[in-house]
Amino acid sequence: MIEKSKQIPVDSQGKPLTDNAALLAWVAEMAALVKPKEVVWCDGSEDERKRLTELAVADGSLIKLNEEKLPGCYLHRSNPNDVARMENLTFICTPTKREAGPTNNWMEPKDAYTKLGKLFDGSMAGKTMYVVPYIMGPAGSPMAKIGVEVTDSVYVVLNMRIMTRMGRIALKMLGQSNDFNRGLHAVLDCNPERRFICHFPQDNTIWSVGSGYGGNVLLGKKCLALRIGSYLGQREKWLAEHMLILGLESPEGEMTYVAAAFPSACGKTNFAMMIPPKRFRGWKIWTVGDDIAWMRVGKDGRLWAINPEHGYFGVAPGTSSKSNANAMVTINHDTIFTNVALTKDGCVWWEGMDGEVPDELTDWQGRPWKKGSTEKAAHPNSRFTAPMQNNPALSKYADEPQGVPISAIIFGGRRATTIPLVMQSFNWAHGVFFGATMGSETTAAAAGQVGVVRRDPMAMLPFCGYNIGDYFAHWLDMQKYIVNPPKIFMVNWFRKDKDGKFLWPGFGENMRVLKWIVDRARGRVGGQETVLGWVPKAGDLDLSGIDGVTEEQVNEATHVELDEWRAELESQSEFFDKVGDSMPEPLTLTRKLLLSKIARLRDGGASVA
Ligand code: OXD
Ligand code: MN
Repeated sequence: MIEKSKQIPVDSQGKPLTDNAALLAWVAEMAALVKPKEVVWCDGSEDERKRLTELAVADGSLIKLNEEKLPGCYLHRSNPNDVARMENLTFICTPTKREAGPTNNWMEPKDAYTKLGKLFDGSMAGKTMYVVPYIMGPAGSPMAKIGVEVTDSVYVVLNMRIMTRMGRIALKMLGQSNDFNRGLHAVLDCNPERRFICHFPQDNTIWSVGSGYGGNVLLGKKCLALRIGSYLGQREKWLAEHMLILGLESPEGEMTYVAAAFPSACGKTNFAMMIPPKRFRGWKIWTVGDDIAWMRVGKDGRLWAINPEHGYFGVAPGTSSKSNANAMVTINHDTIFTNVALTKDGCVWWEGMDGEVPDELTDWQGRPWKKGSTEKAAHPNSRFTAPMQNNPALSKYADEPQGVPISAIIFGGRRATTIPLVMQSFNWAHGVFFGATMGSETTAAAAGQVGVVRRDPMAMLPFCGYNIGDYFAHWLDMQKYIVNPPKIFMVNWFRKDKDGKFLWPGFGENMRVLKWIVDRARGRVGGQETVLGWVPKAGDLDLSGIDGVTEEQVNEATHVELDEWRAELESQSEFFDKVGDSMPEPLTLTRKLLLSKIARLRDGGASVA
């Protein structure tokens, strides 16, 4: 439907969508800025999806895939200069630089509005401006938040439709409230020179310009659910985290929920959809979410989590029946693929997929590609956007307004050395130290060098919407509200031996580690105390029926090597210095204490704590 912004918007049947005065006024203000040819309000209907998909196919932004093999699926090729999040172009715009902190790019809000305002001015001339109302979280959940994204991109609308509860349902939940996130997005000419992703936490506003890449433009995801969400979480005493949520069900029907933070492209989706190996017959993993968790303290003093998203925006390369059979089923219908390769029969392909490498493909940029080429056929950060209902392992509580109670929190990184397969913290504050000092090798999910270790606290480095030191303090302070706190663990699936070979098979076998975690959280399995935390001792990890890994390898994977840890703790000083005065004292002292304990043990000649 085409509407003058101040009129009451209606759906395709002519039924009114909203008369929320604050919303209408804001949309009118945005329209006056970007000056579109028309304003279209999205109602989230099937009719609308069909219409917009046809439009996208007609203008070439979507390519229809093989309807028989991949029903309802489409391929999108982005501008090759726009394939990942760009952290250097992402800004937190707070009145003072201190509020944004040392790990965020900062712009003064007035300057940012002026600078981006000039880029937005008239940017939608001759185009359609879509108004996308959406909910982050289950409809009616006390934890949910409403956002409205104004965009000129049909690709964004169709992705938002999968990733959020979008359209009329959001307007209904909003009612007459003024409490909604205001998101403005325009692709412009997709030029990195004119690309900015700006967050205004105090205004609950996001302005994103010059990009079409998911993480920069699906504003509900990283921008609202994490950057603005973390800011709101600090004010409202909850946690917005870069975490998957899964439920582990035992053969007896005992259900335990865990939330796990891993940096981008480190296997969160695989872990969240894991199928336990044969030895664990009768065990089942249920996915609540694969990327983001919002957690609040319940009346029972436990931490309760919802997944604010409604779909998966997963990394395609490496996804196969071996790494993630549930994902392969999830994405075989009604999915939008971005920057993957195209097969001759109109199907998709990426590096690491099952089966033979095809002789010929069309690569992610639309160029002919031949087997043996040194170039990747799919972009390393190519993605699928799939509805969560497609997931055969979807938890029946994924839509539960109260969320699920969390018994364990896991922090994981991609580390070739030092970090053991799994380690449990001594208590909440020590667990916060685990998260705050996490390091990981960088991946293709963000533009920049891949494979260098950087500190990525709680996997939130690119996503914390305020001063990271204050964020750590908030985590520490939450202890006073969480009467029954989850136990906290760190894991590392990526440790290598001296020949560079992975020590742990990963994927489904991670179930063994998860089981130890759940049993520890429930206080019914052994462990060994080291100066750094609790690790499984021989026999604590269930290794029966495990293939391709020797006992020595497992011992090496779980080993705590004091010299490596001393170097690790010393290398953290750079990050502590960067956070400076905002670093909470308990974390500074924990680091010092661990170093001094290690020094003591080493003086005594011990090499293992
Ligand atoms: C993502 C990311 O897309 O972390 O989830 O980059
Ligand atoms: Mn992520």
